[in-house]
Amino acid sequence: MCGIIGYIGKQKAVPILIEGLKRLEYRGYDSAGVSIIDGKKIINLKSVGKVAELENKLSDSKEILGTIGIAHTRWATHGKPSDQNSHPHCDCSGKIHLVHNGIIENYLELKSYLLKNGHKFKSETDSEIIVHLIEEFNKKLDFKEAVLEALKKIRGTYGLAIINQDEPEKIIVARLGSPLLLGVGEKEFVIASDASAIIRHTDQVIYLEDGEVAELSLDNYEVNNIKNKKISKKISKLDWSMEQARKSGFPHFMMKEIFEQPETIQIAISGRLVVADGMAKLGGLRDVAEKLRHLEKIVIVSCGTSYYSGLVGEYFLEEYAGIPVEVEYASEFRYRKPLLNERTAVLAISQSGETADTLAAIREAKNKGALTLGIVNTVGSTIARETDAGIYNHAGPEIGVASTKAFTSQVSILLLLTLLVGRQRDMTFVMGKRIASEMAKIPKLIEKIIKKSVEIKRIAKKYIQYKDFLYMGRKYNFPIALEGALKIKEIAYVHAEGYPSGEMKHGPIALIDKDFPSIFIVPKDSVYEKNISGMQEIKARGGKIIAIATVGDKEIKKHADDVIYIPKTLEMLTPLLSVIPLQLFAYHIAVLKKLDVDKPRNLAKSVTVE
Ligand code: F6R
Repeated sequence: MCGIIGYIGKQKAVPILIEGLKRLEYRGYDSAGVSIIDGKKIINLKSVGKVAELENKLSDSKEILGTIGIAHTRWATHGKPSDQNSHPHCDCSGKIHLVHNGIIENYLELKSYLLKNGHKFKSETDSEIIVHLIEEFNKKLDFKEAVLEALKKIRGTYGLAIINQDEPEKIIVARLGSPLLLGVGEKEFVIASDASAIIRHTDQVIYLEDGEVAELSLDNYEVNNIKNKKISKKISKLDWSMEQARKSGFPHFMMKEIFEQPETIQIAISGRLVVADGMAKLGGLRDVAEKLRHLEKIVIVSCGTSYYSGLVGEYFLEEYAGIPVEVEYASEFRYRKPLLNERTAVLAISQSGETADTLAAIREAKNKGALTLGIVNTVGSTIARETDAGIYNHAGPEIGVASTKAFTSQVSILLLLTLLVGRQRDMTFVMGKRIASEMAKIPKLIEKIIKKSVEIKRIAKKYIQYKDFLYMGRKYNFPIALEGALKIKEIAYVHAEGYPSGEMKHGPIALIDKDFPSIFIVPKDSVYEKNISGMQEIKARGGKIIAIATVGDKEIKKHADDVIYIPKTLEMLTPLLSVIPLQLFAYHIAVLKKLDVDKPRNLAKSVTVE
């Protein structure tokens, strides 16, 4: 939700900020803006729409030579997308400029205080109050002290970068609840909401923690807490490469990320899946191994696609590891009264590691004394740092807003967790070995499905005019029905419902007619016959069907209008295969409709607000 970037160094700031904004654009693309210190003044430019609009505006104006600046790409919360509501915001004097990612909860109260003190507001945003608050305190305190004082008054979350015309060789940044990284280069610093905007400049980063404020000058930085006490920070090395953050010849990040899945699954299991022993080794959980042995329950908390991977994990863990599992929407968990104790593990699954609801759920679990675990892709993210132990996906940056490779990587790690916990309990060596050896084959099997992209595009063309779809699956493939429906909703704006196929006759079948096609995930598994009955019921009512079926299943053609075959594997592993054609189907429908696949409307990649 919103991306912020700042640069201080010897190079022209504008190209660096624009490049960075493009990398951060997946976080929000309602509007964008920059403020650059140019000699004795600050130049501020904003534009509604994507970063390209701002870039056009900048190329039409006089070249800006300044080497210090801040920029923002917005996902609107308070106030519609407009030039006025775009960041950077400035104070009444126009001297202090600020970009903000987060939400200020007490902004109305603060605004009325500032209005009484004569401040004039230009936007409807909560963010603008911060810059006026700094201006107010700056009347008596110096710039840095004024920032600290303002932060003490704010309730909510923020990632902030602030510049001041009167102290032109400085950027002040602060973080509470919204991610912020400081890239440390050779006599230059880049601050950004995430690593994708930093990696082209440096792989040396400092992860700012909540409550920390950093003051950056051309050749120095200092990190303090909100009470202005100095904090010594460790510089870490980023594990993302520049190449990973590029499209590498693919038309869209989403397609690149779908095609990367054989590799990202391989990375997730490499060195962790021990086929010979039918086991998994998870270094990140070593310190909590004893606690895992005595767990009574696992509660998985996550959102969206990560929630659906959790549902697959529930099937894995209960059936093969013999441990009770609950999967909760993180946004619900935090408002319930969850029954947790020290023998419960609360496992957060999150690609970004910054999802506000998931983070809040983990904090709640910690308060209640539960063991907190994470499956997180973004190294150094807040959830990764706040959980007691965890496993990284190492899937590389996922830039397409619709999650694809993170999902299959999460499911793969849940499978490893199942082996680990299962083998501690009553999973036999023979069973462990069988699962592990089939899991090791999954990357190669996905390669085969990806090769069907052209065939799937041909099927997508046939179905492009339909406005509604029913996605159905049972047992391990029920969560995949949900995930398939989510993909087509979010990137192709097609209404779709995911259902357990057994539930169809309890309601959704009423929707079926010739204009309401169904997608049935129907591999040759323990519920195959039951799925076939469901398909027949749909056919009898004139509904069209696309089936995702196991290679060699000739029977299926009698019941479906179109079939996409996936290779044979163990029943429990079919979700890793069946989801791929559904990702590709949604992708092709969206591309055929000429939609912006990587940046679907109204969405942001990382939901850092509640
Ligand atoms: C869907 C999608 C979202 C995310 C959800 C959780 O394609 O991307 O539903 O899965 O916002 O995000 P993370 O995994 O970053 O916590």
